[in-house]
Amino acid sequence: MKNTPVDYQKARQVIDGYGLPDFGKATIREVVAISTQLEQETKTEFIHMEMGVPGLKAAQVGVDAEVNALRNGIASIYPNINGIPEVKTEASRFIKAFINIDVSPEGCVPVTGSMQGTYASFLVSGQCTPGKDTILFIDPGFPVQKQQITVMGYKYESFDVYEYRGGKLRDVLEKYLSKGNIAAMIYSNPNNPAWFCLTEDELKIIGDMANKHDVIVIEDLAYFAMDFRKDLGTPFKAPYQASVARYTNNYILQISGSKAFSYAGQRIGVTAISDKLYHRAYQGLTQRYGGGTFGTVYIHRVLYALSSGTSHSAQYALAAMFKAASDGTFDFISEVKEYGRRAERLKKIFTQYGFQIVYNHDLDEPIADGFYFTISYPGMTGGELMQELIYYGVSAISLSTTGSNQQGLRACTSFIKDHQYELLEKRLKIFSENHPL
Ligand SMILES: Cc1ncc(COP(=O)(O)O)c(C=O)c1O
Repeated sequence: MKNTPVDYQKARQVIDGYGLPDFGKATIREVVAISTQLEQETKTEFIHMEMGVPGLKAAQVGVDAEVNALRNGIASIYPNINGIPEVKTEASRFIKAFINIDVSPEGCVPVTGSMQGTYASFLVSGQCTPGKDTILFIDPGFPVQKQQITVMGYKYESFDVYEYRGGKLRDVLEKYLSKGNIAAMIYSNPNNPAWFCLTEDELKIIGDMANKHDVIVIEDLAYFAMDFRKDLGTPFKAPYQASVARYTNNYILQISGSKAFSYAGQRIGVTAISDKLYHRAYQGLTQRYGGGTFGTVYIHRVLYALSSGTSHSAQYALAAMFKAASDGTFDFISEVKEYGRRAERLKKIFTQYGFQIVYNHDLDEPIADGFYFTISYPGMTGGELMQELIYYGVSAISLSTTGSNQQGLRACTSFIKDHQYELLEKRLKIFSENHPL
């Protein structure tokens, strides 16, 4: 029997107890449940790399603004469904400051996190034009977004962009979009789970194809400005966050407070709809709602039906964080750079013990260090590696749950504690002895 840091028999027993037909398909919540149970029952510390939860303190400027708003009696009043003027204006200014594009305050709408932003975006996009009823995922991606598609009974198609970086992206998009059934396409940039960043050239291809085939681009900026290879943190000064918004008017940006401002608990973000798309009327929307444009349907029909707006106090928090960032008094990038420092150290330890980084390049440039990275071990599938690492007290999720065709795992840096680098090194040393290459 193998000598593993977590008792092998016990770990097997707990994993078997979950009755999962394919451990590689376990959801994040299942992996958390298994690793937490094992941690308690075996009294062995786990290095948790499965959850994408911010591991830093919430931005103080947001907390202060929110507390003040509550003290001023905001809790008793329904928020305006369009968003309070402060958050709309500051969102528009923040987008100008850090992306250098113009979106009117009108189209900047607070949502209860990007989760709601994408849900509403998928929903409205799929209702615009009869026959355009499918969402295209440029994968790998955030698994819950496919769950959203399932919840609303929509259809989706997807491809792993691993094989289609650079100019090849045009051909694969042409293949999918030319069929005429795609309403919208979505990707995250930087990417969850693989942390690659699509380049300006690639974003131009996406924008061109969206124009050619009249498809809406949903650009998920959950990890806003976290390509730490570039200095994206100075407001109103290049370089800026890369965005498809430079290449098409058919876009919706999802800007989340969760990771950039460590504000996940308050469920707040902004959906920014391009001016052109906001004011565009679609046959399908007119038929269904009796009128309206993309923007007004998004807000007054769909958000109204989903949650009747976004928590009033959290809107004040987000407005204050956007304002302080654009004023240059709150350097949010410096705070989240901690994730990049962690990734650099962790990747070094993994590769020292025979692991490989799966998505390792943006064309000819090594990927950035950030919130996530991907690992594989020669000769093991993602599912096998995920299960095997459990015996070593390391938990991560398989890439197969993210629409990736690659064999490996997504590791998240956000929960890593200072003493765990040494622990990881010890554990991986035993792993590599038990799995010689
Ligand atoms: C790519 C991506 N999009 C959206 C979200 C959700 O963001 P929010 O907390 O704003 O709903 C996440 C959170 O992990 C994410 O990784």
